[in-house]
Amino acid sequence: MDQIKQQIEALREELNRHNYNYYVLSTPTISDFEFDEKLKKLSDLEIQYPEYFDVNSPTQRVGSDINKSFKQVLHKYPMLSLGNTYTESEVTDFYNRVQKGLNDDFEIVCELKYDGTSISLTYIDGKLTQAVTRGDGVQGDDVTANVRTIRSVPLRLQGNDYPDEFEIRGEILMPWSVFDKLNKERAEQEEILFANPRNAGSGTLKQQDPKIVASRKLDSYLYYMLGENLPSDGHYENLMKAKEWGFKISDATKKCKTLDEIFEYIKYWDIERKNLPVATDGIVLKVNSLTQQRNLGYTSKFPRWAIAFKFQAEKAVTTLESVTYQVGRTGAVTPVANLTPVKLSGTTVKRASLYNEDYINQLDLHINDQVYVEKGGEIIPKITGVDISKRGIFDEKVEFTKECPECGTSLVKDEGEAIYYCPNDLSCPPQLKGRIEHFCTRKAMNISCGPETVEHLYNARLISNVSDLYTLKWQDVSRLERWAEKSAKNLIDSIHASVSVPYPRVLFALGIRYVGETVAKKLALAFPSIDMLMAAGVEDLVQVDEIGERIAQSIVKYFGESANVELVNRLKGFGIQFELSEDIISQRTDKLQGLSIVISGTFEKHSRDEYKVMIEQNGGKNSGSISAKTSYVLAGDNMGPAKLEKAQNLGITILNEDEFLEMIK
Ligand code: IVH
Repeated sequence: MDQIKQQIEALREELNRHNYNYYVLSTPTISDFEFDEKLKKLSDLEIQYPEYFDVNSPTQRVGSDINKSFKQVLHKYPMLSLGNTYTESEVTDFYNRVQKGLNDDFEIVCELKYDGTSISLTYIDGKLTQAVTRGDGVQGDDVTANVRTIRSVPLRLQGNDYPDEFEIRGEILMPWSVFDKLNKERAEQEEILFANPRNAGSGTLKQQDPKIVASRKLDSYLYYMLGENLPSDGHYENLMKAKEWGFKISDATKKCKTLDEIFEYIKYWDIERKNLPVATDGIVLKVNSLTQQRNLGYTSKFPRWAIAFKFQAEKAVTTLESVTYQVGRTGAVTPVANLTPVKLSGTTVKRASLYNEDYINQLDLHINDQVYVEKGGEIIPKITGVDISKRGIFDEKVEFTKECPECGTSLVKDEGEAIYYCPNDLSCPPQLKGRIEHFCTRKAMNISCGPETVEHLYNARLISNVSDLYTLKWQDVSRLERWAEKSAKNLIDSIHASVSVPYPRVLFALGIRYVGETVAKKLALAFPSIDMLMAAGVEDLVQVDEIGERIAQSIVKYFGESANVELVNRLKGFGIQFELSEDIISQRTDKLQGLSIVISGTFEKHSRDEYKVMIEQNGGKNSGSISAKTSYVLAGDNMGPAKLEKAQNLGITILNEDEFLEMIK
């Protein structure tokens, strides 16, 4: 038996080493095939001898267990952010402040500022035990299962001179290459694209299923070690030790003494960062000595011993070839600039958002203008200016279209609004299709019918409004080109299942302008059946908390159109839920009327979401942050100390679960 254990251990060690060579050093010494063979061998042994199971085995990187929600964990040391600077003179000011504060020699460590999701990793006896996101800085989400799948995060450390227990902080990142591939796949499936690798990475890290995380190939860079028995008083020296233990530490980390060296570093990396595989948005300067860091201390928000310098967003100049217009499901018309393709931050830019008529007028845009485009972390870049000196005298001024580009109807604009709408909501094709798409989305009716399917069914004249979905037959669908019987049946099944979607979501699904998910919930509680809502006037609607004149008008207008009333009636005929279910109505009270309650921490008896519903059902308001207006804080375990202190300072009563439940009993 011992021999088996030794064999397993040896394979684990070997595979860990190859992982490190591949993911941290980027210099593999064996082929992928050989690696997979060895991994398979280890996996077979582990299955055969389950007594040697170890969460830190390289076989566990694929992600196995599905956990439902993230545990909140209190940070042992709060996770602070840094003060930002944008100019050389602000950097000089920082340097001078440090010099004055210390009145002694000091070194500054220059690092890249990685643009990802910050993470805090705990290692005990050389093993990864916990990975927690920043959260609010005081407590974060326990995402250990997900982080275990990230290959450059060591599960076990190399060597033996690491402290028994320490934390190391850094950034989890999605490399550009993975991001581009992921978005390409999403575009093909007509899913919403991620705006940038940071959003894609943090979205991935918050996935409930570690298998998805494993498939997304995240990376990590570590830049800050904390603990009682660190190897050195130098931050830089500690990072170099961490590198020996197997962590991915940026090779760009550099110790500097003078301001000139710092500026040289900034200049070099402002250019060179474009060749890096991951996103960076600046550099970070840190005083090297931990003793000196302690002496400098912290302001109320930031350390005095470190600062971030943010790079200017990259700009490019190109020609504005034309302006076209897109029509959304609510009829909103958005202008888009079509540009001569130009390279910007590693991608080719062909289009830029122009937002609305005012934006175009402010820029005084003319066709053929030389325009500056900038990428501010969004996928669609924006035009930030025009080089007027390059304008020709015959270049035509851009006038916002007065007609719908899709159906020719004259556009309208409400007073005080920036956006033009196509009022032809009954037959303008993108509006019809857009409303069906919205109706089907997951948060609405959850019907498996994305934009491409809607397009297909609409073009085949099988559907022209949402009620047509309920008369669709799988035989009709499967007769269409590219439709297999199975997917046609799946679609029909999901349509049938949608009749049990609760009323608030149905209300949201109708796509009434300004009625988002939250407003729909509020309306459903105040008007527990669609008939009551349809009978309500503006003056009744504005009585509801957070429903203003604009939303109220939009609802009255919607139900003022006979086509919409007919649609609701048809949907009723198909059994769609247009009333709040009895159990929700019977639980409604006014016990918390006029009270604003903040929920904080984790609970035993109900989830946070359940408590939120309870507050609303009893007439109270759930608010996100503590202020003088807060009536109570409903506090569970691990309430953040900052929140606690704030509540105490404001003299707000703190309720525990039982006290709250007693209040609404
Ligand atoms: S040090 C107390 N170093 O930028 C100092 N942060 O606003 C803790 N970041 O929240 C942070 N690269 O998420 C540090 N080399 C680096 C960094 C870095 C990126 C992020 C981090 C932090 C934010 C600071």
